[in-house]
Amino acid sequence: MKPREFVPNVHLIGAVDWDRRLFDALIPLPDGTSYNAYYVHGSEKNVLLDTVDPVQWRTLSLQLDQLPAPDYLVIHHVEQDHSGSTPMLLDRFPDLTVVCNEKARGMLLDHLHIDDARFHIVADGDELSLGDKTLKFVFTPWVHWPETMCTWLEEDRILFSCDFFGSHYATNDVFADKHKVYDGAKRYYAEIMMPFGVQVLKNVDKVTQYPIAIIGPSHGPVYDDPGFIIEAYRDWAGGEPQNIVCLPYVTMHGSTRLMVDYLTAALTDRGVAVERFDLTTLDAGELASSLVHAGTIVLGTPTVLGGPHPLAMYAAALANALRPRARFATVIGSYGWAGKTVETLAGMMGKLKLELLEPVLAKGMPREADYVALDALADAIAEKHKDLAPRNFADLTVCNTDH
Ligand code: FEO
Repeated sequence: MKPREFVPNVHLIGAVDWDRRLFDALIPLPDGTSYNAYYVHGSEKNVLLDTVDPVQWRTLSLQLDQLPAPDYLVIHHVEQDHSGSTPMLLDRFPDLTVVCNEKARGMLLDHLHIDDARFHIVADGDELSLGDKTLKFVFTPWVHWPETMCTWLEEDRILFSCDFFGSHYATNDVFADKHKVYDGAKRYYAEIMMPFGVQVLKNVDKVTQYPIAIIGPSHGPVYDDPGFIIEAYRDWAGGEPQNIVCLPYVTMHGSTRLMVDYLTAALTDRGVAVERFDLTTLDAGELASSLVHAGTIVLGTPTVLGGPHPLAMYAAALANALRPRARFATVIGSYGWAGKTVETLAGMMGKLKLELLEPVLAKGMPREADYVALDALADAIAEKHKDLAPRNFADLTVCNTDH
């Protein structure tokens, strides 16, 4: 693809990785991704903002063949999907200077062994003139690493935000169709940003002090309607837990599934929304998205070898790492003789501020008394959820509202 000039002298370059299906050996990418770099042509200097994953270096290199040599390379974030082609760029352009903050410098030295003589270090709020265009560096730590920063292009009112506001969504459209990108952006928030929700909100407030016309993230399409993604971020990072039960489960011989089915129906009858995930075919991004607004987490698992099924432990570990704002949790499932299923799962979610509700464990296939206990659990969840926000179909609202 040729460089795409979406504002005079501002080009979207980089690579669309249509077929990538896993990121960080962890995150499913059902819609692929992109590694966006941007090229700004000033009257005196030219700048490249970010690079691409090294596997796509040739794509970036061919695009740079069509543009004047950059004077500066701004590194917003050192994760290698954005910084990884820096060594090749420094080889290709001997006069190229790397512009980044001090934290990023240390990380680039560690991860990519960049020559220390090639850096220009900037502080929060520093500016860099390209002649008729001015870049201002806005530090936005912990979206999602400590060194992350954005660049504000004053004259064109563009915020280059790197991972912040990004989406794993491969498209050859320059600008986002919010109906198409919303789910991918939410998954991306849930997987990458949710553990840092407090910092996310602070940084949303910080960058929105600027009169943003366009947001150029380094994954997914460009936003020419920035209000849409900004308001979505405020909702995801700052909204209250809602009347939703997130119910990841695994079953071995069907007893736990009987309990999961019964509880799903009992909660539905009480007006509580249930989002179920069969852990044997889990897409971790869908589970993460559900955790953004869930009020309660119910883990469904048999007891195996004295503890929870390993897939249930994976779900608990994932929830613990992502730090959702759910308020309540419990465990349901079947056991054969004995074990420490509940204690193990509760211990694995120790970072979360959860009130543990009474678990329901059935010996073998559930009996009438177990179903009575599940009704009692559904009553308890419905009662607790009276204090939560109603389920907000924000996804539909955002996608059907023009800002
Ligand atoms: Fe897209 Fe944190 O890298």
